Amino acid sequence: MINIKKHIVLGIETSCDETGLALIDSEKGLLAHALYSQTKLHETYGGVVPELASRDHIRVFLPMLKDLLKQANLSQHDLTGIAYTQGPGLLGALLIGACFAHTLAKALAIPLIGVHHLEGHLMAAFLGPKPPKPPFTALIVSGGHTLLISASRLGEYTILGESRDDAAGEAFDKTAKLLGLGYPGGAALSRLAEQGRPNIFHFPRPMTDKPGLEFSFSGLKTSAVNQFKNSDQSPQAKADIAQAFEAAIVETLLIKCKRALEQTGDATFIIAGGVSANRPFREAITQWCESRNIRLLMPALEFCTDNGAMIAQAGLLRLQAGFQTPVDTILARARWSLEELEGF
Ligand code: KG4
Ligand code: ZN
Repeated sequence: MINIKKHIVLGIETSCDETGLALIDSEKGLLAHALYSQTKLHETYGGVVPELASRDHIRVFLPMLKDLLKQANLSQHDLTGIAYTQGPGLLGALLIGACFAHTLAKALAIPLIGVHHLEGHLMAAFLGPKPPKPPFTALIVSGGHTLLISASRLGEYTILGESRDDAAGEAFDKTAKLLGLGYPGGAALSRLAEQGRPNIFHFPRPMTDKPGLEFSFSGLKTSAVNQFKNSDQSPQAKADIAQAFEAAIVETLLIKCKRALEQTGDATFIIAGGVSANRPFREAITQWCESRNIRLLMPALEFCTDNGAMIAQAGLLRLQAGFQTPVDTILARARWSLEELEGF
């Protein structure tokens, strides 16, 4: 049962190395959002260091919240709900967001809602003026996950297929590191690929030669290491490898998306998560969906990667549907399947 009470919800995202905060109004939409990325902190280590991530979330949280409220011309007493990422993610980082969320909800005596990070990613596509109505099929593709799902109603998700090993974003990041593009280098690799020539290098399209909707991206990384070692390692060779690598991931994702939509027969498709910001993938999937009269929804570029707005949006919808998380026990879950959620 949807409750139409007016809400102003604070969304808190701290599942990995981004502190994301946002304020959403049930009538006016997104009021303000702020994002602090710890990329510089972890760059030296070539990956996220969990302990450092937790400490940095603590350091920036309160000043960011103060700024955000000021930006929206609101006080904490205007808030009617708090939404935070309850999982999955790095436990220490999740616990920081959870502690702030529980404390604020308790002190302000307002409802609290723990949000599934992947439902958050999906809801980033709902930030637009026309939220899609289930049923729909979706691809959530990020640094931590690659999965195809179908939704019979909001919150009721069936996993159609997922990666057996690396996520697509992880594969992008590992190859970007190999090419000296820093961490996380998915977007940088995609920019370098624009200078690459097609068909100089070739990468497999893993698991596309047999039926099914599972993915496997770890072999691509090994193939990248071998081809890079055997190349002259010049700037042009790096760009050519980036081009071929990106083409392989994009085509693999595309083949599986088409298969999933043929299987479900849904008329709406959603792509979400960091890799859904990839330009060639967005173009290819847009073209295919148009040719099949399938309504495609994707988040605006700034809301593909981790952010607070997606958590605020998911939290708002769940609060309106009557869900609440108890405030007295701090809840965070490093592992949590989307299929465990309750529909609404
Ligand atoms: O959703 P996200 O912020 O974090 C997770 O929940 O994992 O996704 C981050 C991932 C990283 O692996 C990053 O390299 C990748 O998304 N990414 C991209 C692009 N922008 C971000 N990969 C390919 N092309 C892009 N333009
Ligand atoms: Zn994410």
